[in-house]
Amino acid sequence: LTARPGRSTTRIVRTRVLVFGASGYSGLELLRWLARHPRAEVAGASSERWAGRPVGGPIAGWPGGLHFEPHPALLERAVEGAIAFLATPAETSLSLAPALLSRGARVIDLSGAFRLRRAEAYPEWYGFEHPAPALLDQAAYGLPELFPEPGAPGAPAAPAAGGRLVANPGCYATAAILAIAPLLSAKLVDPAAPIVLDGKSGATGAGKKLEESMLFSEVAEAIRPYRVGKHQHTPEIEQALGLALGRPVALTFTAHLVPLRRGLVVSAYLRARAGLAGRGSGAPEIAEAYRAAYAGARFVRVRSEPPDPAGVAGTNICDVHAVLDPRTETLIAFGALDNLVKGAAGQAIQNMNRLLGLDPSTGLVAP
Ligand SMILES: NC(=O)c1ccc[n+]([C@@H]2O[C@H](COP(=O)([O-])OP(=O)(O)OC[C@H]3O[C@@H](n4cnc5c(N)ncnc54)[C@H](OP(=O)(O)O)[C@@H]3O)[C@@H](O)[C@H]2O)c1
Repeated sequence: LTARPGRSTTRIVRTRVLVFGASGYSGLELLRWLARHPRAEVAGASSERWAGRPVGGPIAGWPGGLHFEPHPALLERAVEGAIAFLATPAETSLSLAPALLSRGARVIDLSGAFRLRRAEAYPEWYGFEHPAPALLDQAAYGLPELFPEPGAPGAPAAPAAGGRLVANPGCYATAAILAIAPLLSAKLVDPAAPIVLDGKSGATGAGKKLEESMLFSEVAEAIRPYRVGKHQHTPEIEQALGLALGRPVALTFTAHLVPLRRGLVVSAYLRARAGLAGRGSGAPEIAEAYRAAYAGARFVRVRSEPPDPAGVAGTNICDVHAVLDPRTETLIAFGALDNLVKGAAGQAIQNMNRLLGLDPSTGLVAP
């Protein structure tokens, strides 16, 4: 509330937000950004492990006196109009989201629980039968740069003001879709050829759970392919790219764990459409495709060189670049981002801004 003598009073309305799973990597990152958000007030943060401890403990500069509380206690405090961020495992989001929606809260889920349109895909990729398929139709896929308006039936839509459930995209999926989709939409790619995607991510991408394979001595100085042929972001990427291409897409994706704390890069290999190779490695159609997709986008930078996640660490920005290899008629597209920001918490706040009708960059400007 700002009041000055002789001036009218301006009332700044802050929306109450709740963060479930606040002790995890994405949850803590959410709290860090939300602490500086001018239109959000963190009204609660949940963790069983850290219940009773002050939120200011792990977060330097935390402004208030909030304490972590058990998940059920926070659920009880969800009120009409509040925004709940779920930085929880997918199985947990499946039960929290309906409970929160029934209390009138809006939900932004960082897990994969509501990202896929087809309930039948969940047993194969997530290992559970989806208990609430009706919510899959209601969930907006929160990648605002590519799905800015509610789309055609069956299309993932960005969260519009008034929406209630947002499925925040996966980290690899965000980088891959932002790098590849414009090339498909611009018809620079042979639509019949499969797409090959390689991803490399730092250790925070795996979350905080204790696992022998994530010990320092196992991760340091190692590069480890994982979940080969069954990474859960595969159908999510296929779903979004299928919409960009206008027909189903087949994707081969291998993720690698690399010894970084945060950050990821994806490299995609796509068969160029007939005739494109003759235009040379820097075919102007590539830059044109990105320009058409990202004119005015605040959080996608089109680079003239392959990107490095170090260049976007701590920001909500995804860097993209593509080049043509005329010898093999292959388009190589790259995306790099910070998995905890544009790949998780930052994009979730971008989606909150969208729900609240705020400027997309509110609270997301990083030094
Ligand atoms: N890490 C990334 O780069 C990234 C990127 C995009 C999306 N995501 C997604 O975001 C979600 C969180 O990932 P993360 O990496 O931040 O995980 P994490 O570091 O392992 O943290 C998980 C959080 O979930 C809480 N939790 C665990 N079981 C719970 C339950 N039964 N009920 C309520 N809360 C529970 C934990 O709280 P306690 O203190 O109670 O244990 C913890 O705060 C996951 O769905 C993940 O797929 C992660």
